[in-house]
Amino acid sequence: MKNEGIEGTERFVHPERGRGLRALRHFAVGELVFACPAYSYVLTESERGTHCEHCFTRKEDLSKCGKCKQAYYCNIDCQRGDWPMHKLECVAMCAYGENWCPSETVRLVARIVMKQKVTTDRTPSERLLLLKEFEAHLDKMDSEKDEMNQTDIAALHHFYAHHISNIPDDLALTELFAQVNCNGFTIEDEELSHLGSAVFPDVALMNHSCSPNVIVTYKGTVAEVRAVKEISPGEEVFNSYIDLLYPTEDRKERLLDSYFFTCQCTECTTKSKDKEKTEIRKLSSGAPEPEEIRAMVRYAKNVIEEFRRAKHYKSPSELLEMCELSQEKMGTIFADTNVYMLHMMYQAMGVCLYMQDWDGAMDYGEKIIQPYSVHYPAYSLNVASMYLKLGRLYLGLEKKTQGVKALKKALAIMEVAHGKDHHYVAEVKREIEEQT
Ligand SMILES: C[S@@+](CC[C@H](N)C(=O)[O-])C[C@H]1O[C@@H](n2cnc3c(N)ncnc32)[C@H](O)[C@@H]1O
Ligand SMILES: [Zn+2]
Ligand SMILES: [Zn+2]
Ligand SMILES: [Zn+2]
Repeated sequence: MKNEGIEGTERFVHPERGRGLRALRHFAVGELVFACPAYSYVLTESERGTHCEHCFTRKEDLSKCGKCKQAYYCNIDCQRGDWPMHKLECVAMCAYGENWCPSETVRLVARIVMKQKVTTDRTPSERLLLLKEFEAHLDKMDSEKDEMNQTDIAALHHFYAHHISNIPDDLALTELFAQVNCNGFTIEDEELSHLGSAVFPDVALMNHSCSPNVIVTYKGTVAEVRAVKEISPGEEVFNSYIDLLYPTEDRKERLLDSYFFTCQCTECTTKSKDKEKTEIRKLSSGAPEPEEIRAMVRYAKNVIEEFRRAKHYKSPSELLEMCELSQEKMGTIFADTNVYMLHMMYQAMGVCLYMQDWDGAMDYGEKIIQPYSVHYPAYSLNVASMYLKLGRLYLGLEKKTQGVKALKKALAIMEVAHGKDHHYVAEVKREIEEQT
């Protein structure tokens, strides 16, 4: 296949950011800039049975793989299409039983290794950037990252050695894991539930901005990139690599740790949203001392990290208690609109949804949605998904007017981010029409 590029865009090299994507023509808000099929992808284990392993379609009555009884498909075509990848795991999952536990990154890398064996030409996912060309930042690996890399390599050998003949050597695998860490994507549904992991080489060509001009959404296993700001000819196309809720210092830390660069975007230089994001509670006793605020920010960051780990072993009610206690403590200094308060409210909402405590989830959603709309950019999947969850909760609780109103808010964002013809958009429209 010859390299035909992507119409209306070009690859270029920026002195600081390295390779990047640039517009060659004007793109209007909501316009599709390009679509990119996944080079490799993997459905997350917890979505087995709800989504087809091959095409990621969500539907009831999928058919089970007769051998492992763990993978589910739309039909025989999807099952056949998936076999070159599923065969890596089908027998092994049975053989290992409860001991089958490769991480999602390892599962994805196994599929990439397998694909690389049979592909020699440029694939339709690599019109502008080859997977082989991915940035790895190998020179920036510290001992902690090196250790994680060794663990991944060991797991790849352990779980896949029987099914992949001549696995690349450790040096090549070190590079591949580093490339996937720096260029990989997670696929989410319309409510931002995690569906899987994938590599989309052309999408990975885009550099990051905290004030991005495009958003990436997914149609099955195809990534779609749409403009969320007007883009002029010659302008660089930026997406966001991270959750944009947090203040500049936190975003900087995250970008440096995961992607090894310091963001110089306008949000990072003007820090225009930092004050609102870290709002302090107004008290009659006067403003807290700066040291008190710093101590509470340290506490907030610790609690966020502690909660992230606790999710793996604590019960829902214990988790909810963690959320409530931390909000109580942070609430002595932070306003309810403060992002660290919002973070714990969001976690609490997730636990309520898991426990099917719909009223509890709705209460949290109602507290979150307004500040979210202020902190996030105008078109944000985080805001859309929050309106969507809230709208669906309202309708479930027979609060029709509020439900329709929230769904319409979600729809307005999704029509731009997902495109008017996306099946998620059609679904939300149907939910609204059923009420009117
Ligand atoms: C997914 S890749 C993007 C394409 C990359 N520039 C390349 O040449 O392959 C991510 C890497 O690009 C660079 N990068 C992305 N956004 C950047 C930015 N805003 N400023 C500086 N470097 C950036 C960093 O090296 C980061 O690890
Ligand atoms: Zn399917
Ligand atoms: Zn199977
Ligand atoms: Zn930035």
